[in-house]
Amino acid sequence: MRNLINPFIKITVLAFYLVGCTAMAVAPPAETSDSKKKKAEETPEMVAEAKAKVFSRSDVSVANGEKRFNQTCVYCHGHQGSGGKARKLQGRDLDPDYLFKTITRGKKRGSLIMPPWKRSFNAEQRWELVTYILTLSEMK
Ligand code: HEC
Repeated sequence: MRNLINPFIKITVLAFYLVGCTAMAVAPPAETSDSKKKKAEETPEMVAEAKAKVFSRSDVSVANGEKRFNQTCVYCHGHQGSGGKARKLQGRDLDPDYLFKTITRGKKRGSLIMPPWKRSFNAEQRWELVTYILTLSEMK
């Protein structure tokens, strides 16, 4: 009986050892996940770069912004920003940087809450929304 058990135990120990080694080899080193985090972070330089790019091709940007607005924002802000569950965006003299910041961080008025959009849209996409909202300033 002893002869049968001993090899079994040896194999079990060996198996655990191998699993442990594999787990250590597969687990990503702390460094990698750190640099990943940094990559996802949005620096002011990246935001400025995205702004310049988006404003330099404003026709395309407004069109993209309008499309996205109609998909995501219209539910609360109404058709062409005519208002609804939030203040209307038409006929307003809104500052581009204020618009970008507000879209990025979200906004709250009383019990009405707009979530932040930073996770859903990258800087370029948010600037495109800004260019579209700016076109609404001519409307009443
Ligand atoms: C769930 C409803 C909701 C959605 C969806 C929503 N918003 Fe808002 N938004 C609000 C509320 C509430 C406010 C703050 C109160 C207000 O301005 O009426 C606000 C404020 C704003 C403001 C500031 C307006 C001001 O007068 O200062 C901007 C700009 C804006 N939203 C843009 C957007 C954009 C762009 C989207 C789509 C990506 C969007 N919102 C989607 C509810 C929403």
